[in-house]
Amino acid sequence: MSHRLPLVFVHGFPLDRTLFADQEELSDVARLLSFDLPGFGAAANLPPVAGMAGYVDAVTAALDAARIERAVLCGLSMGGYILFELWRRCPERAAALILCDTRAEADPPEGKRARLEGIAKVRAGERAELIAGYLPKLLGPASLQREEVMARVRAMSAAASDQGIVAALQAMHDRPDSTLTLASIRVPTLILVGEEDSLTPPAAARAIQAGIAGSELQEIPGAGHLTTIENPSAVNAALRGFLARV
Ligand code: MLT
Repeated sequence: MSHRLPLVFVHGFPLDRTLFADQEELSDVARLLSFDLPGFGAAANLPPVAGMAGYVDAVTAALDAARIERAVLCGLSMGGYILFELWRRCPERAAALILCDTRAEADPPEGKRARLEGIAKVRAGERAELIAGYLPKLLGPASLQREEVMARVRAMSAAASDQGIVAALQAMHDRPDSTLTLASIRVPTLILVGEEDSLTPPAAARAIQAGIAGSELQEIPGAGHLTTIENPSAVNAALRGFLARV
């Protein structure tokens, strides 16, 4: 039986667990668990879930399967949206939270429209077009020039099923505003954001920090939205420091 703290990773859209492959070096300080949400990665063929609550069920099922009662939960982007829902439904599963490149607010009207257009595109067989428009927004300017980073992002998004993409877009469209949830978060919380994140920019991270008493915020240099693969050494240093304090 391991006594290292469990650290569980929840990936973003349209990605998979390999978003956290570079965090494996933290296995000396934590018991790591990453998994693919239904519709993504190796779980692409699982039936799509309904709403953020469906993804929360997938997270708690992964915790149960690994016999983990409470963990440090780390979510990136949609993974963060899922953790806000998890906090509302079963806060006892979270010993601490790490919220990477995410936001508390719901989608604004134009954002909701874009989600529905995305769903229509996938249903019209234009999934490739949707993904091609999305990928450049995920990375900072320097990372967009790094072929190995681009290849990882392309491979993750290629693995997702059409139904998985549609279910995630619908869940993000439907998600509630989590701003009022922030004040109820009473576990140690670390917020990370890429300095060049244009999807969930540093201002969104600062708004989360302002809402969670005692939370810490670190900006990751040289990274856009996908900090864990764009600047893993800075992310891992931040996680290591946080884990030593919780
Ligand atoms: C993600 O990275 O999970 C998504 O980009 C989040 C979003 O589109 O809001």
